[in-house]
Amino acid sequence: MPIDQATSRRRFLQFLAGSPLIAGSLPAFAEGSVAGAKLSDPIIWAPLKTENLIKSPKEAINVFDFEPACRANVPPAHFGYMASGIDDEVTLRANREGFLKFVLRPRRLVDVSKVDMSVEIFGVRYQTPIIVAPVGGQQSFHPEGEIAVAKAARAGDHLQILSTSTNAGVEDVAAARGAPLWYQLYATNKWEVAKAMVARAEKSGCLAVAVTIDRSGGRNQETLFRLVPTDSRDCNACHERGSLATNLKRRAMYQGLDISGLSHTQSSNMTWDFLKRLRDTTKMKIVLKGVLAHEDAVLAADAGMDAIIVSNHGGRSEDSGRSTIDALPEIVEAVRGRMPILIDSGFRRGTDIVKALALGAHAVCIGRPYIWGLGAFGQPGVERVLELLRIELHAAMQQVGAPTVKDLVPGMVRRA
Ligand SMILES: Cc1cc2nc3c(=O)[nH]c(=O)nc-3n(C[C@H](O)[C@H](O)[C@H](O)COP(=O)(O)O)c2cc1C
Repeated sequence: MPIDQATSRRRFLQFLAGSPLIAGSLPAFAEGSVAGAKLSDPIIWAPLKTENLIKSPKEAINVFDFEPACRANVPPAHFGYMASGIDDEVTLRANREGFLKFVLRPRRLVDVSKVDMSVEIFGVRYQTPIIVAPVGGQQSFHPEGEIAVAKAARAGDHLQILSTSTNAGVEDVAAARGAPLWYQLYATNKWEVAKAMVARAEKSGCLAVAVTIDRSGGRNQETLFRLVPTDSRDCNACHERGSLATNLKRRAMYQGLDISGLSHTQSSNMTWDFLKRLRDTTKMKIVLKGVLAHEDAVLAADAGMDAIIVSNHGGRSEDSGRSTIDALPEIVEAVRGRMPILIDSGFRRGTDIVKALALGAHAVCIGRPYIWGLGAFGQPGVERVLELLRIELHAAMQQVGAPTVKDLVPGMVRRA
């Protein structure tokens, strides 16, 4: 029996509405409603329209407003590099959907007229638990790159973690931030390279080295690969992919190093032995970035690591499908307070941050949103992104009844 278009559309909508994946997130349609289909309520009257770009940072009402403005400004290949996850991008989406699995359980009648969002990490007090995550090559998003981000981080007193793949040198970024950074390490396959980078970071005043341990394999960044051919510029003019040496020309931390024998910038050969060696090499605190299993968290504490970052690299490492907020509770339980636990991947809202802090994280790192701000407006864009997150966090802490970060306790969050 032939099915007309209206019937087939109705059946499709009924199917969608019944899907556990979509239920609760399918918008009700303002027109053409379908008899028999249970669509969610209320109707969404004011969805984000990606073609309506904000013209100034002040116009943004949330961090998502910056992404389309960044898309309009940044070359398609660079935007694709930033937006990309891996393969089907299941982990990328899971990072956001993970927050729906946890609901808030606010407490009332607590005086929250004054909120103190400050946290102390390694003896340093920051006015906010929101940390700027390491993101490589920030000049691909704005000519002022990491320097603009450092100035914005300074304005809101955010800890900044600088990537090994930074365009600007650690000394210049530290000067622009006006306070010590943390240095993120991609160890490479060559110990001497890692050692030299760590020594340079320490000399420039960095307090900690965050060793990224989740980039040991290749990756299929499909969004990137599909957007590269839409970029009309000659990518080889900048990237010079002929050899690793030419490709690293714009990476400040490799300058002056003997990179002979360097086969790649990641470290598929890294084991716990590397961290022992690192411990004997630097006085900086050592933080492991990319922990997802409670067994590794316990090994990290046993190995004397100073902190961990629960991270799936913003869905850019493996398409495992597990969000970091999902992984956090088992890790907090296993670590039993032996070291601070930081977290990143998918954090976009004050309530996301409140959930992680209440579940036992000490601080939260933000990746793509500040890059959206950078690509859209440079330093003022990053400042506004960070400000919006602080405003939302402040309001969320008031609403759950937590005047300080210490007052965010596990009872304020439940699995949905
Ligand atoms: C464009 C881009 C570049 C990144 N570069 C690095 C890097 O150089 N070193 C690193 O450890 N993590 C890097 N990350 C991962 C971030 O530090 C962080 O884990 C991730 O962005 C958090 O997820 P979110 O983007 O959803 O907030 C990068 C992420 C993006 C999006």
